[in-house]
Amino acid sequence: MRILFLGDIVGRAGRDAVLAALPGLRQRLNLDLIIINAENASHGFGLAPAMADALFAAGADVLTLGNHAWDRKELLGYIDSQPRLIRPLNYPPGTPGQGHTIVELPNGRRVLVLQVLARLFMELSDDPFRMTAELLGKHRLGVTVDAIVADIHGEATSEKMAYAHSFDGRVSLVVGTHTHVPTADTQILPGGTAYQTDAGMCGDYDSVIGMDKGAAAARFWRRAPGERLAPADGPATLCGVLLETDDRTGLAVAVSPLRQGGRLTQS
Ligand SMILES: [Fe+2]
Ligand SMILES: [Fe+2]
Repeated sequence: MRILFLGDIVGRAGRDAVLAALPGLRQRLNLDLIIINAENASHGFGLAPAMADALFAAGADVLTLGNHAWDRKELLGYIDSQPRLIRPLNYPPGTPGQGHTIVELPNGRRVLVLQVLARLFMELSDDPFRMTAELLGKHRLGVTVDAIVADIHGEATSEKMAYAHSFDGRVSLVVGTHTHVPTADTQILPGGTAYQTDAGMCGDYDSVIGMDKGAAAARFWRRAPGERLAPADGPATLCGVLLETDDRTGLAVAVSPLRQGGRLTQS
């Protein structure tokens, strides 16, 4: 099975580039599934329901969120009607939406996608490790589902690596989101789980993590109410991870970074 995971879409630049590229990517890379983090798709903060609809219509199969999940409050009334839009699994009970989804492909194969929020330097949440272990107790790779993708949304590289090693051999791919910078540690772990610490963003890299560099830099120079942050609007680089799994075991047989368009070195 071939799966593409794209990192955080930031603002219009990222959104338009993703919408334009999705149909071509699906065909050229012969993709079975496309998963995208969309927590910053609406002007850098959150995801408006209409934009979620547009991404699904363009070919996204699953959208994940993150700490910006509820920046657009309208999403609270939308998420329960769209099972393929997921928020962190380790939000407390009673939070709208779900932290995982199972997609059934036209050929009958099933893919479990989950997202957790990391805890180091992040807002309070339940334990992502134990919540993942609990979920994976109900879904066995290669037995009840054909692939499992886990998006760990967080700052700390150490926490993401520890998480990946904890579930090595039990999921197809662990990929990080949230930092908006792609890491160069793409690999298959000893147990067969593909891993990259952060997928990077889909946005303009002539920026500070996707936001206008002038206003963002000013925040480090002085402590005063300043210009509102807005997404940078130059040409976007799409960043993500391309995964190929073994149809029998669900484990990774190949993984590579994808960087397309914009100013980053292409891959
Ligand atoms: Fe983000
Ligand atoms: Fe985030």
